[in-house]
Amino acid sequence: MRYLLTTLAVVAGFCGVACAADPPAKPPVAEPVVLITGSDRGIGFALVQEFASRGWRVMATCRDPARAAALQEFAAAHPAVTIDALDVADDAAIDRLAARYRGQPIDALVNNAGILGDVSGQRLGTLDPNGFEQTMRVNSYAPLRMSQAFLEQVAASKQKKIIAITSGAGSLWLAQQTHGFYYYSMSKSALNMAMRMLQNDVRSRGILVGIVTPGPVDTDMQREYRAAAAQANTPVTTPAMTSADSARALVNYVETLSADKAGRFYSYDGREIPW
Ligand SMILES: NC(=O)c1ccc[n+]([C@@H]2O[C@H](COP(=O)([O-])OP(=O)(O)OC[C@H]3O[C@@H](n4cnc5c(N)ncnc54)[C@H](OP(=O)(O)O)[C@@H]3O)[C@@H](O)[C@H]2O)c1
Repeated sequence: MRYLLTTLAVVAGFCGVACAADPPAKPPVAEPVVLITGSDRGIGFALVQEFASRGWRVMATCRDPARAAALQEFAAAHPAVTIDALDVADDAAIDRLAARYRGQPIDALVNNAGILGDVSGQRLGTLDPNGFEQTMRVNSYAPLRMSQAFLEQVAASKQKKIIAITSGAGSLWLAQQTHGFYYYSMSKSALNMAMRMLQNDVRSRGILVGIVTPGPVDTDMQREYRAAAAQANTPVTTPAMTSADSARALVNYVETLSADKAGRFYSYDGREIPW
């Protein structure tokens, strides 16, 4: 468990529900454009703010825009930010959103949405298959499914970037002494593999796939993780950075992502992480 903590330390408006009948959202907007999943809180919301501050057009997506008060308030003050509903565990919803934005180049598709999963159901002795399926679905499958659905929009853009927000918890090398949180760690390893293979498939189209950890960031997920670790008598003492600081580093990473770094596993601070 302690090692996992170290691992995580190293690594650790328009608003509407798109539906089949929706017309195209609007004519293509100017570049650069970023689409972010899980934008209503945590690192996702910080990414919305950081990209917007740098002049990007931001397509912010979240499960329930009606409950995303802070994001709504931010979008109301920043016309370059739009909001769409998207549950990344819903393939049909992903396809509807992609259809709605057909013809809209997307310079960076940032797959940020993620879950820690039910912490009590992913320990030896309490393994719960439903928790496994949900965690794998959201953390591993959904980013790949999003990449498939939005591939043409990314390919039509200038920057052509697909980004996965992963975790050092997914590194087999760092996990040599890790305990606990099986599903979360497994889901991030699977995500890394999916993104590495995706890079092979899309390289010929000039698309760059970025695999990056945000570091230990003070969000709901990190707080839940720390509470569970404390309960297991392995309290986390490493400081967590603010989501704004992490987002600044992550957007630097996105903006400077080049072919030589694509398909490899990086930390928010520029260090490469062993698989
Ligand atoms: N915080 C860290 O220290 C840390 C470290 C390593 C990696 N990460 C990774 O960074 C990413 C963001 O984490 P965070 O710390 O910001 O977590 P967070 O505060 O718990 O936020 C998670 C975000 O993901 C969204 N989400 C979850 N399931 C979704 C679904 N099915 N469809 C759409 N959105 C969904 C949540 O939306 P709702 O509000 O609707 O639930 C929320 O916006 C995750 O991929 C996480 O694994 C975080």
